Parts: sequence; structure tokens; C-alpha cells
Amino acid sequence: MAATSAALSLPLSSKLGTNSSDSSLRFLNPKPILLRSPFFSPNVVEIKRNGISVSSASPVRSRICATSAQVMDQSVAALGSKASTVVDVDLGTRSYPIYIGSGLLDRPELLQRHVHGKRVLVVTNNTVAAIYLDKVVEALTKGNTNVSVESVILPDGEKYKNMDILMKVFDKAIESRLDRKCTFVALGGGVIGDMCGYAAASFLRGVNFIQIPTTVMSQVDSSVGGKTGINHRLGKNLIGAFYQPQCVLIDTDTLNTLPDRELASGLAEVIKYGLIRDAEFFEWQEKNMPALIARDPSALAYAIKRSCENKAEVVSLDERESGLRATLNLGHTFGHAIETGFGYGQWLHGEAVAAGIIMAVDMSYRLGWIDDSIVKRVNNILKEAKLPVVPPETMTVEMFKSVMAVDKKVADGLMRLILLKGPLGNCVFTGDYDRKALDETLHAFCKF
Ligand SMILES: NC(=O)c1ccc[n+]([C@@H]2O[C@H](COP(=O)([O-])OP(=O)(O)OC[C@H]3O[C@@H](n4cnc5c(N)ncnc54)[C@H](O)[C@@H]3O)[C@@H](O)[C@H]2O)c1
Ligand SMILES: [Zn+2]
Repeated sequence: MAATSAALSLPLSSKLGTNSSDSSLRFLNPKPILLRSPFFSPNVVEIKRNGISVSSASPVRSRICATSAQVMDQSVAALGSKASTVVDVDLGTRSYPIYIGSGLLDRPELLQRHVHGKRVLVVTNNTVAAIYLDKVVEALTKGNTNVSVESVILPDGEKYKNMDILMKVFDKAIESRLDRKCTFVALGGGVIGDMCGYAAASFLRGVNFIQIPTTVMSQVDSSVGGKTGINHRLGKNLIGAFYQPQCVLIDTDTLNTLPDRELASGLAEVIKYGLIRDAEFFEWQEKNMPALIARDPSALAYAIKRSCENKAEVVSLDERESGLRATLNLGHTFGHAIETGFGYGQWLHGEAVAAGIIMAVDMSYRLGWIDDSIVKRVNNILKEAKLPVVPPETMTVEMFKSVMAVDKKVADGLMRLILLKGPLGNCVFTGDYDRKALDETLHAFCKF
């Protein structure tokens, strides 16, 4: 059994700052600091609407939550000194661990301790099932004859992330007479994680749920934080729920079978964390991008861990996206327009986000909020990660505008965007920007 993880350090600390001249929610994140107490964070949030402060708090007392610890136990040592890490997502009674490491699917006790009840439904797709389903069933049942495992295998692809295909999960669960004490297990990338999570949130009004993410995208982002859902033909992820898993199990060995294009797609979200809140991590990526692309195991493990720490901390501070969490959507408003406008699955999520990040950065520069060295660095790192730096040629200004108008971040008709502002690692989530800059950006990136 793994040694209990102890908080060794508070690796990252979110710093929110106010700027009274800014009628927006502003996040300043100058330099990581170590906090004296895990219960005190010198964060200040100020939300202003139409110049009137609607909510403000001077030093917020909030628990800083993302802690991680090396976990080494005898069984792991015996396996060949494979170390694993646990990042805790601290959400009170809904807290859970993210296990990160090589060979974790060979450690049945990690999964089994989070299975509630005797029935398990593994939700996966045809691609992933062929490689990992047997291994996961073995991990769920080894030494544990009490548990019976069913599986439902969905077609593979973003275009199947919809209500019709979701129904297949409910069909299987109901036909198998699963009850409230069952556990759903998501085995696959972000599409499977989002669908299985949403199914778990709504089947019998909520059953236990475990994430086993198998893509970089899902290991660094989508499996953590409890956002679940499906697409509508008019917009991405418009139907869904916040629903947290019991645990996330990241076996980094699963990345060995991931296609190169999918690996690069996930790196878009890794780059995002650096840009919005972790300049040091961005600098590390600038040096280590060749290693990440070459799948160096220790570089990948570090990038996954640090991304999970960033995500866990943001989610712990703002689970239901009242402000801070929205910053994780840097590039996504433009990116979702590409995914929806160009056709689900044509461009991978991370590819669309990469082009979206470039557009958000371009707009931030036009507004005079960042200097051109940041624009160049973002261009360089995305190119190095083999990600696109312009949207598809067929995207028009009108296509962007019509899809962006139904984005979830539109509030009272105001299109709020995540933009970079200040030194590297700082961003704002705001509807208070010059519309001309948005128009100029759209025209700069679209032929029509
Ligand atoms: N919930 C969130 O917070 C959140 C965050 C980011 C992205 N997302 C969502 O995640 C989705 C994208 O996720 P994704 O990039 O993982 O795409 P995906 O789930 O479509 O997986 C990518 C491809 O890789 C295959 N695959 C998965 N694991 C594999 C493995 N180990 N070996 C070989 N092939 C493997 C899949 O079958 C698929 O073909 C989008 O729908 C996006 O909206 C959600
Ligand atoms: Zn994303």
C-alpha cells in the first residue's frame, strides 16, 4: 500500500490582484510565493460591473489546495523504482487524489480503493478498448472477486460527443440493472471523460465516477476539475454538469500508444497554464519542448504533474467558474468557434486552442496590454510543439462572430474573453476591451 502522501510544499500559489482602474476581474500572478499557512492566501478578488464594484473582498481566507507529494512504497520499489506522485484536489467533502506515474494500472489497489459498491461500468471507445480495456478490467477485479465489471464501447471521435451516443451509456447501465451504488469508470481521452462524467452525474441523479485519462489532453486538463458534458450542433460543451470524480488515475505509460498529433494537441493546454499563471513553467517548456515532443518520460511526467497542480489549484479556488476558473479558457472562445465552425473533429481540440491562443495574444497586443516579445515567444513555442498558429483558411469573420456569440462566457450579451495583460504569466477575464481590437484580430486572421 502506498505511503500516505504528505504535503511537502505548496508548489504554486495563485495570486489574484486588483487593479482599480480595470473594470474587470484581473488576475495578477507575478511570482510564486510560499505561504506560511495552508489556510491563508493573500488573494484579493474584485469584480466590477459598469464601474461599480459588485463584490469585493480584501485578503480572502481560502485554503490553498493543490499539494503534491512523492509517493514511494515497497511494491513500487520492487517494480523497479517507479515513483509516483499524488496531487490532491481539495474541495472539502468532494476532494480527491490525482495519481500520476508509470505503471499505475499494474497497481490494482489504487483503483479498487475508490470503487464503491460491487458493480462497475467502464465507458470507453473502440480505439482505447482494443489497447487498455482488458488491463483495466484486470486492475478492477484482481484479488477482488466481489466486483463485477460491465463495459460500453462508444464510437471514437469528437463528432460522437452528443446526446444520441450518450444514450448508449444509459442503455447499458439500465439494461444491466445498475443501481445507485455502482461506479462509472471513464477510460480514454477527453471525449470519453466528458461523456462518462456527464452520464455519471445524471444516471440515477449521480453515481460514483473514476477517471482514467489516456491522452495528454485528458491527463493535463480534462480529467481534473469536474467539468463534464457533450456538444450541441450549435456549440461545444453547451450541455453538461459540474461533477467531480472519486479519483483520477494517470498511468503515463498509456501515452506510449498515443499518435503524435494527439500528443501535440495536449501540449496546447500545457502551454496555456504557463501563459495564464505560471511564467516559470512556461520558461521550463521553452527549454524542454523538444524533450516533450520526443516523449521523454521524465519531461512528460513533470509537465503532467505541474499542469495538474495548476489546474487543481484553480479549481479548488473557483470550482464553479465564478471568475478565476474562466482563465483556463485562454484561446478557447476563438478555438471553440474553429471546432464548431469547421466541423467537430476536423481540427483537434488542442489545435483549435493553439490557433485561439495566438488570436487572443494578438488581440492583447493590439490593446497594448503585452509587449511584442510575448507575441514572439508564444508563436515560437506553439510552432515548436507542432501546433497551428493560424486558424483554418475557411474560417470567416462571420463564422467566428456567430459561434462566439453563443459561448458560455457571454454574460448579459457581453462577450468576455481571457486576454494576457502585463508580464508573462498574467491574464484578465474581461468584457471591458476596445471592440475595434477584436475586429482587427478577426480580420487579420481571416481572408473574408
Ligand atoms: N472537461 C474539461 O475540463 C475539458 C478540458 C479540456 C478538453 N476537454 C474536452 O476534451 C476533448 C478532447 O480530448 P482529447 O484530446 O483527449 O481527445 P479524444 O478523447 O478524442 O482522444 C484523442 C484520440 O486519441 C485516442 N486515444 C486516446 N487514448 C489513447 C491512447 N492511450 N493510445 C492511443 N490512442 C488513444 C482516442 O481514441 C481518440 O481517437 C474535447 O471534447 C474537449 O472539449 C474537456
Ligand atoms: Zn481545452
